[in-house]
Amino acid sequence: MLINNDTIIKDNDPLIRQKSEPVELPLSAEDETLLREMLQYVKDSTDEEKAKEFNLRPAVGISAIQVGVPKQMTAIVVDEYDKNENPVHYEFMLVNPKIVSSSVQKAYLSGGEGCLSVAEEHEGHVVRSARVKVRAYDLCTDQYIEIRARGYLAIVLQHELDHFKGILFYDHIDRKDPFHETEGAMVI
Ligand code: CO
Repeated sequence: MLINNDTIIKDNDPLIRQKSEPVELPLSAEDETLLREMLQYVKDSTDEEKAKEFNLRPAVGISAIQVGVPKQMTAIVVDEYDKNENPVHYEFMLVNPKIVSSSVQKAYLSGGEGCLSVAEEHEGHVVRSARVKVRAYDLCTDQYIEIRARGYLAIVLQHELDHFKGILFYDHIDRKDPFHETEGAMVI
């Protein structure tokens, strides 16, 4: 499947609101190919030359519904720093991921969120859980994994898993008070 900024479904298409179904495991050849192409998109999207040449918008994650396939699959590539300021690289191809626990403490990105399916900017705090535990099958490692995510990675996971429910990041923005300060929230 050709995945680029023209083929990615935008929020003016009702399909983006459709719920995604669990995927049968082991993966069919078709599902596996799609998930690998999704990961490739995310990787290539942050390469300036490739992004320009192939019309890719930079992203840290993509979910299958964004290419019109309502299946619970998402590819994520995140580079960040751990608690001790050491760089960490995360790469996942998740199938049927589920949040099994989430912290009471909230977190949000100070600059707000963006999405491949949303062309316009929507300013405001997207308040999510600061930490989540996610269980999934991961095609990168070919095993069932449990991810204990905090901060930025936790935000990305929640953003992508929202796509399975047809939820977009701006649904979480308080329209009356978009920059509301949530008490005790981790600001990223
Ligand atoms: Co998105």
